[in-house]
Amino acid sequence: MSLFDEIKVFSGNSHPQLARDICKYLKIPLGESEVFKFSNDETFVRIRENVREKDVFLVQPISSPVNDNLMELFIMIDAAKRASAGRITVVIPYYAYGRTDKKDQPRVAITARLIADFIITAGADRVLTMNLHAGQIQGFFNIPLDELTSIPLLAKQYQDRDIKNLVVVATDVGAAKRAHDLADILNTPMAIIEKQRYGNEDTVEAVNLIGDVKGKCALIVDDEIGTGGTVIAASKILTKFGVNKIYCCAVHPVLSGNAADLLAQSDIEEIIVTDTLPIPPSKMISNLKVVSVSDMLGEAITRIHSGLSVGAMFGH
Ligand code: R5P
Repeated sequence: MSLFDEIKVFSGNSHPQLARDICKYLKIPLGESEVFKFSNDETFVRIRENVREKDVFLVQPISSPVNDNLMELFIMIDAAKRASAGRITVVIPYYAYGRTDKKDQPRVAITARLIADFIITAGADRVLTMNLHAGQIQGFFNIPLDELTSIPLLAKQYQDRDIKNLVVVATDVGAAKRAHDLADILNTPMAIIEKQRYGNEDTVEAVNLIGDVKGKCALIVDDEIGTGGTVIAASKILTKFGVNKIYCCAVHPVLSGNAADLLAQSDIEEIIVTDTLPIPPSKMISNLKVVSVSDMLGEAITRIHSGLSVGAMFGH
């Protein structure tokens, strides 16, 4: 039983395949809309079906081109609002600018907060997202937000395989909680890398490793792979500390610049990511495997619509 009329799902240009897969789970067609740019670079959105009093879900992970996709999202929200949608939930599986979440240098912006303000001002009623870079981003929104985790889904990819002597490795101290959750499900020990990032550049170095990895199979876990610098630095120090084999998993495949090429040449045997972001065919390297979060998002949408617990999906 829902307070709102039927579910309607619409997609921007960020990841239509994910939106279609979510609709497949929901057994509904993807809503019809036009989202395009005029020759003067301005974005146009038109929802091509009636959404009055409907429970509208707008699927738009903030993929590259990040700023264009954000603008699409804001305009989609406005279009749905002005079309008298009953409720608008933005489905943002990957929340870009998540790393700009604090004033850690003089005179910098907190862009993750600014975007939250834009989303609310545009008229969103709720947010559905996945593995935020920092949990406190939830608090940047004063509307309900559901944050799903794909750590159990990633864990499942290793549970049925007979990988001996597995050790889960956090790429830095901040990632320790995520690694702990994975290690807990897989019932393995964990290790933590001490990472240094230099300035605002993407240069990273793994300077130390805490934990016993010698002769073991390491499973590096991170929330996102951007330039690939972090996981590659992790793989280098793991090799130095005598691991046998290196696996890697991450939720968000940002894969910026030449990350895919660097990962293809790295010591990492296999990288498992989710489809919170689209991966262009040119970046689908042979050691990359993608698992879909569409069913999980579809189930969360069903529960949000029906007023059922989303936490219950994760045993809470
Ligand atoms: C950093 O705190 C994050 O958890 C990731 O480690 C980082 O965003 C990965 O970025 P890159 O691949 O560019 O090193």
